[in-house]
Amino acid sequence: MMETMLTSELRSELVQRAVEARKLAYAPYSNYPVGAALLTRSGRFFSGVNVENAAYPMSLCAERVAIFKAISEGEREFVALAVVTSNGGTPCGACRQVMAEFGQDTLVLVADSSGRLVHEARLSELLPGAFGPRDLGK
Ligand code: THU
Repeated sequence: MMETMLTSELRSELVQRAVEARKLAYAPYSNYPVGAALLTRSGRFFSGVNVENAAYPMSLCAERVAIFKAISEGEREFVALAVVTSNGGTPCGACRQVMAEFGQDTLVLVADSSGRLVHEARLSELLPGAFGPRDLGK
């Protein structure tokens, strides 16, 4: 299995893909469009946007859309996830938990809508002590 290293070119591409994805967000209720882009260990990219619903709790965050797209195409290992919002907001707790299922080392890059990096951290820093597969003997 190919091991993708996060070069500076790949980092920039990942953030740029999240900037582009954000333009397709469906966020008519919050008016807070979010774009995400995920890089898998095998070198594939998956984008995601937040998808809201008139029944508000049915909405899904951009990060989980990107992760679920990747999982549904056979990917299980992630190098980095970029998230783009207007103001550099960081992934919500639910998305952190979903990411934790697939590894603690995933690098999370948070950028604003112009693609300027405002924060970066490993998932282990964003969700220390996460409940995960190991707790269920996996
Ligand atoms: N949202 C995301 O898509 N990702 C985040 O990291 C934070 C919040 C979405 C959910 C909702 O559609 C809107 O942003 C406002 O909360």
